[in-house]
Amino acid sequence: MTTVERLVGAGIDRVDGPAKVRGTAPYAYEQDPGEPIAHVALVQSTVNRGRITRLDPTRAEALPGVLAVITPANAPRLSGDLASDLPVLQSLDVHYQGQVVAAVVAETSEVARAAVGEVLVEYAAEPPDVRLSARRPDLYAPAHVMGGQATDSVIGDVDGALAAAAVTVDATYETPVQHHNPIEMHTSMARWDGDALTLWDADQGPHTIAKDLVTAFELEPGQVRVVSPYVGGAFGSKAFTHPHQVLAALVARVVGRTVVLELTRQQMFSLAGHRTPTIQRIRLGADPEGRLTAISHEVVEHTARIDEFAEQTATPSRVMYAAANRRTTHRLARLDVPPPTIMRAPGETPGMYALESAMDELAHAIGLDPVELRLRNEPAEDPERGIPWSSRSLVACLRTGAERFGWAGRDPRPGVRTDGRWLVGTGVAAATYPARRRKADCRISVDGRGRYTVEIDGSDIGTGTWTALAQIAADALGVGMDGVELRIGDSRLPFAGGAGGSMGLASWGSAVVLTARELRRRLESSGGSLSPGGLTVDGGVDGPSPHAGERSMHSFGAHFVEVRVDADTGEVRVPRATSVYAAGTIVNAKTARSQFLGGFCMGLSMALHEESVQDERFGHYANHDLAGYHVATNADIGEIDISWLEEDDPYVNELGLKGIGEVGITGAAAAVANGYWHATGRRVRDLPITPDKFFRP
Ligand code: MOS
Repeated sequence: MTTVERLVGAGIDRVDGPAKVRGTAPYAYEQDPGEPIAHVALVQSTVNRGRITRLDPTRAEALPGVLAVITPANAPRLSGDLASDLPVLQSLDVHYQGQVVAAVVAETSEVARAAVGEVLVEYAAEPPDVRLSARRPDLYAPAHVMGGQATDSVIGDVDGALAAAAVTVDATYETPVQHHNPIEMHTSMARWDGDALTLWDADQGPHTIAKDLVTAFELEPGQVRVVSPYVGGAFGSKAFTHPHQVLAALVARVVGRTVVLELTRQQMFSLAGHRTPTIQRIRLGADPEGRLTAISHEVVEHTARIDEFAEQTATPSRVMYAAANRRTTHRLARLDVPPPTIMRAPGETPGMYALESAMDELAHAIGLDPVELRLRNEPAEDPERGIPWSSRSLVACLRTGAERFGWAGRDPRPGVRTDGRWLVGTGVAAATYPARRRKADCRISVDGRGRYTVEIDGSDIGTGTWTALAQIAADALGVGMDGVELRIGDSRLPFAGGAGGSMGLASWGSAVVLTARELRRRLESSGGSLSPGGLTVDGGVDGPSPHAGERSMHSFGAHFVEVRVDADTGEVRVPRATSVYAAGTIVNAKTARSQFLGGFCMGLSMALHEESVQDERFGHYANHDLAGYHVATNADIGEIDISWLEEDDPYVNELGLKGIGEVGITGAAAAVANGYWHATGRRVRDLPITPDKFFRP
């Protein structure tokens, strides 16, 4: 038998689409535990740093319908092995504003929320330290940045090369705290049966959450089941365990009932992570023809006092362009903030904003077209690791994008085109994201009638996994979509890492392909005769591609945008954009387009709107709702032309796919900022580019 490639690549409609449209796909809040559900509401700290001096739940406890008020005084003890903000209600110390200091359980959510206001809490507050600055004396170098990557990289003599360079750029870019804001609020429904816990949960990977709950309650792995068949967006905020998941389980244990805990939109600004702010100094040196001689990318960002999260912001500068002399550094300040976490292309998103803005500044300084500048600095191999690419199509993305957008003949002068009161410009920037794979197990069974069941704890966070993974499985088994039953989103299924790092489908898909191959081999060696019980095969992948050490693996892309700025109000519009990607095999043309499109829109949103404003006196995020925290909506988005290139990569994994969830956001903010400069002649180096910045002196 040979594998018939017929479903991978097709733009198949989401198999879960009808259920979602009809409202019959059960999200965490809508699961049916088979008994009445009690509701949890949270009492949160009103100070940013200090200690609880008095906590009186008496009045709340007396309200009709209240089942319990759980505080640090009466909460069950959790394992001492919990880190960061997971030891909920275990101490009187306060580490950030919004920290949970008590939980109310009641028969209805209305009663629970009303009772929150009746819990009396007093604090001894200390002044918070929340201001990030590149001049803080306490900045430190973490042992490594995320993913075990080196904190710093130094090649050659950067300072010497900068001093000798014909043209230099030295600019500092700042990005603010951002919050993920998926449509579905973080929600956990918890039920205990004896010492066995079931958590219906909104997360990016049930196994990840289950592991922390096993630790928290000192259980055996088989005693915790996390179920997450449908998730309404995540962007990284649902990748790791947050306090509410531990809390839901803890509260359910206390009251002996199934409970549900749904964070409010406001609570998601303190209890579900955020993107660290960054201060990035970029220095580029080039010869008169625009060939880079030096790249320096120095990053300052924050982490929480109670946790170290070291974002790998400068890492894209290690792969994007050729230059003999190079330096990247990361420094952290420990502040009184909630723990930051990963947010769509953590590292690459702010890092590519800075690098691709600096490249635009360099192009102008040299008098060279910014597309041409990038073409001249295309590296033949990975410029820091000194190994070949598995595949790299940045040049083709830039050329194709320029063609589709109509870039040729662009007037390079900034601030000279008007259309009525609108200033008009265009901008370009590149995109990149690593292509990785991690461990995933898989089980495939075939029954006596030839029906296949594929089991793997993959996740669909709205990206299309239900469909794309079924396409991969059907092809691998040589049947149609309806010949396969896929089971994902349940920690009882074979182990798989969560949907994150754009490596979900690369990992789960490889596991499915290899397991299917083994199943077919066994079927063939048995002469095709199935016992009445059918056949089950366990397989999977252990981790990264075997070629990961000898090939550098990344997806690439290029964004082109038109930017219009209202000279009277400073309003910024992006009426049209072109994005071209090369990310290896595209499994589902329809859901992939949505991922690229969503990534670009999120980058546009970062460029123009998104900023969590911290009140430096009290430490909280003042605009903690969707009225104050603006995200781009349909009215902010113009015509967007999304396409991708054929790219055959035999090294990344069994399917040749590189992952598509994150590359689209990288570079998008730089393209908009570069277009804004071209329209106005003003270089805004601190995002977001809000209307007021047009009028800054
Ligand atoms: Mo994504 S930020 O890797 O969940």
